[in-house]
Amino acid sequence: MKSVYHLPLLFIVVFSLGWSSSSADSHEDFLDCLSSYHPQESSLISRVIYTERNSSYSAILESSIHNLRFSAPNTPKPLVIVTPLNISHVQATIHCSKTHGLQIRTRSGGHDFEGLSYVSEVPFVVVDLVHFRSIDIDVENEEAWVQSGAITGELYYRINERTTNLTFPGALCHTVGIGGFISGGGYGLLFRKYGLAGDNVLDAQLVDANGRVLDRRSMGEDLFWAIRGGGGGSFGIILSWKVTLVPIPSTVTVFSVGRTLEQNATELLHRWQYVAPNLPNDVYSVVSISTVNGTETGRRTVLATFTSVFQGSANELMALMQERFPELGLVQDNFVETTWIGSLMFVSQLPNETSEILLDRTYRSTLLSPAFKAKSDYVRKPMPEIALQGLWSQLLEDVATTATMNIISYGGKMDEFPESALPFPHRKGTLYKIDYNIGWQEEENNNPQRYINWIRKLYTYMAPFVSKSPREAYVNYRDLDIGRNDEDGKTSYKQASVWGRKYFKRNFDRLVYVKSKIDPENFFRHEQSIPPRFH
Ligand SMILES: Cc1cc2nc3c(=O)[nH]c(=O)nc-3n(C[C@H](O)[C@H](O)[C@H](O)COP(=O)(O)OP(=O)(O)OC[C@H]3O[C@@H](n4cnc5c(N)ncnc54)[C@H](O)[C@@H]3O)c2cc1C
Ligand SMILES: *[C@@H]1O[C@H](CO)[C@@H](O)[C@H](O)[C@H]1NC(C)=O
Ligand SMILES: *[C@@H]1O[C@H](CO)[C@@H](O)[C@H](O)[C@H]1NC(C)=O
Ligand SMILES: *[C@@H]1O[C@H](CO)[C@@H](O)[C@H](O)[C@H]1NC(C)=O
Ligand SMILES: *[C@@H]1O[C@H](CO)[C@@H](O)[C@H](O)[C@H]1NC(C)=O
Ligand SMILES: *[C@@H]1O[C@H](CO)[C@@H](O)[C@H](O)[C@H]1NC(C)=O
Ligand SMILES: *[C@@H]1O[C@H](CO)[C@@H](O)[C@H](O)[C@H]1NC(C)=O
Repeated sequence: MKSVYHLPLLFIVVFSLGWSSSSADSHEDFLDCLSSYHPQESSLISRVIYTERNSSYSAILESSIHNLRFSAPNTPKPLVIVTPLNISHVQATIHCSKTHGLQIRTRSGGHDFEGLSYVSEVPFVVVDLVHFRSIDIDVENEEAWVQSGAITGELYYRINERTTNLTFPGALCHTVGIGGFISGGGYGLLFRKYGLAGDNVLDAQLVDANGRVLDRRSMGEDLFWAIRGGGGGSFGIILSWKVTLVPIPSTVTVFSVGRTLEQNATELLHRWQYVAPNLPNDVYSVVSISTVNGTETGRRTVLATFTSVFQGSANELMALMQERFPELGLVQDNFVETTWIGSLMFVSQLPNETSEILLDRTYRSTLLSPAFKAKSDYVRKPMPEIALQGLWSQLLEDVATTATMNIISYGGKMDEFPESALPFPHRKGTLYKIDYNIGWQEEENNNPQRYINWIRKLYTYMAPFVSKSPREAYVNYRDLDIGRNDEDGKTSYKQASVWGRKYFKRNFDRLVYVKSKIDPENFFRHEQSIPPRFH
């Protein structure tokens, strides 16, 4: 009765606001609901509620927007941002959003490629977990509890304070939030050795659509399976994760060498496809593709940068590369011995005077344009050289000077998990993943269409050479081009299974089953959330 009464009001808010700065009073009811949910804590909860009338609203909203494509004046903004300090604040927000017909978007690190943690076309509230970031490390048992709002870099840093022998198989980029990262599986420098982040989770704490606080035992194995790779924002708000820590050696070795087309980049990349997936588990191997002005020819050329991180000494890696990939022409000077933390800073090209930078959640990678569109592919059969030639001509188009591709080798430990171990299905037989990215400056945000058109054309070009039926994609590299749910959430199973099978293959069915049990009303939803079966 109550929610029916309030619905028309909310729609008036949206349209009269026009997402402009003139704030309406109509979400006062929602705010009243929040402060009366736990009257004894009302003073506390008001300290963590922001509307457009609070001067720090914009700063809080923008603090972890990691794709400035969604920071434009016409980007829909939340009516309210809540930065909970307590579980009861989370429960209050769920309860009041439900009774007032508002959608919730949960944000941990704000890296969603499509901005789904802080943008919605319907009236919404952001639950920003920036204060939920405590980290509790148990060195003896090689475990840790980490809250969702912590960034990967904080976890690396806090473990390293306690011991240099252990770490967590987290993300490459230190600013990635633990909450979204683990929710989508999560890979990084150690995934060929220890699997995904999701493969290394022992327990979790989740608040469901009814405000119940569940752990692994009370949520059951189906839901515990679903939250470790089924994508964020579908099942509830995950507050924290208990993870396994993994051993690392005291010496880690890195190399990174660039080869242009004139230096046989095509032949080398072609060969790499056969070499990298079969390297020992201790090697992480990536080829980054970009274009540069050739110094030799004066013409624009493709640069393929071959980077590896090895859990061991320079001598071992040098011998290995000499045996497996002599064509790359590595010399002794290319191999740099460092520590695990040093290797993270090396691959992200972070200023490395001090590791404190790992704690900086607002740091913006120099490797990525401020605003961007990205896509992903998985490859199961090596691409022929002729296909690479065609790829180069796409990359050498004038519009594409900021385009990059990262080609990340799979194999190793990833081959040992059955496809159904987690929702993440891209396991045995995957040679590598490709991510495509094209970026622009914030000033160009009003017309990024030519860049978006270019990356879509590239994606079409690649179709014959990548996985098919389904064409697989990584849920943590969210791409709304591959399909989206209806705004009202009344999405059919058939419609959702188009993008669902790309991200999850046959695991999509089990995700739908789990969703139907935990959130049959489809309260937690977004453009690519898992739909309940009979909705
Ligand atoms: C610069 C950059 C580098 C990256 N590097 C890597 C990498 O090395 N490895 C990798 O695997 N991926 C990487 N990614 C992708 C990244 O893993 C995903 O974007 C991930 O979803 C980000 O998590 P987040 O918490 O930062 O994002 P958010 O935008 O906060 O969340 C992403 C999604 O999860 C939901 N969500 C967030 N927190 C919760 C929660 N606590 N409970 C329930 N749902 C939640 C959100 O609503 C949203 O749908 C990178 C992305 C960027 C932009
Ligand atoms: C935002 O403004 C409201 C109304 O003035 C106030 O009650 C609340 O405490 C403010 N929020 C924060 C975080 O200061
Ligand atoms: C709420 O969080 C604050 C700050 O973290 C803490 O001091 C307080 O004890 C918490 N209250 C409850 C009821 O959990
Ligand atoms: C780390 O491992 C080394 C040898 O492997 C050992 O000597 C050292 O005590 C360990 N340090 C910690 C803090 O566990
Ligand atoms: C490129 O490959 C050719 C043929 O294999 C070889 O002769 C040449 O030296 C290579 N060039 C470079 C720069 O490595
Ligand atoms: C490459 O050359 C073009 C044209 O000469 C120039 O505008 C551009 O700034 C150069 N780019 C780099 C990265 O040097
Ligand atoms: C820091 O980076 C520079 C440049 O990449 C490198 O020469 C140096 O060895 C690095 N220092 C450490 C401590 O890793």
